[in-house]
Amino acid sequence: MERTLIIIKPDGVQRGLVGEIIRRFEQRGLRIVGMKFMQVSRELAEQHYAVHREKPFFNSLVEYITASPVVVMALEGTNAVLNARNIIGATQPSEAKAGTIRGDFALEIGRNLVHGSDSPENGTAEVALWFKPEELISWQRDVDRWIFE
Ligand code: RTP
Ligand code: MG
Repeated sequence: MERTLIIIKPDGVQRGLVGEIIRRFEQRGLRIVGMKFMQVSRELAEQHYAVHREKPFFNSLVEYITASPVVVMALEGTNAVLNARNIIGATQPSEAKAGTIRGDFALEIGRNLVHGSDSPENGTAEVALWFKPEELISWQRDVDRWIFE
């Protein structure tokens, strides 16, 4: 089953949006296989955002994600990556549609509340970067047969 890494960034935690954000993924039917509250180290932030290392916003991005604790989740389900990104909305909040997390709660690209993996390959790699194997639980929900066909 496809997996995606979701991070509720420091602004989401500071603004008390953890429950609201988790609710949206849970309500859609994605299955939680890992979840933790943590302070991100500079080292992990730089690894996670390695693809952006040469971008002008790299330093502010690392400052942002390490500024305060985050909630990290590994979610799985049908097209987990794409479905999660649709729940999150466009990177630039002014382009995010109403009904998405960013479209409903964010104004600025550097305060856009949530991270979601951008490909199935990156979903697998990011879940492995952020979670130890023993922190992930493979399990079934009784309701799965009414969500997964
Ligand atoms: P994310 O990785 O956080 O899910 O967001 P994304 O795929 O929609 O966007 P991505 O291109 O991967 O960028 C990662 C994060 O960097 C910040 N950003 N700032 N100032 C800028 O031009 C700029 N561009 C990107 C955003 O916080 C974005 O979520
Ligand atoms: Mg990204």
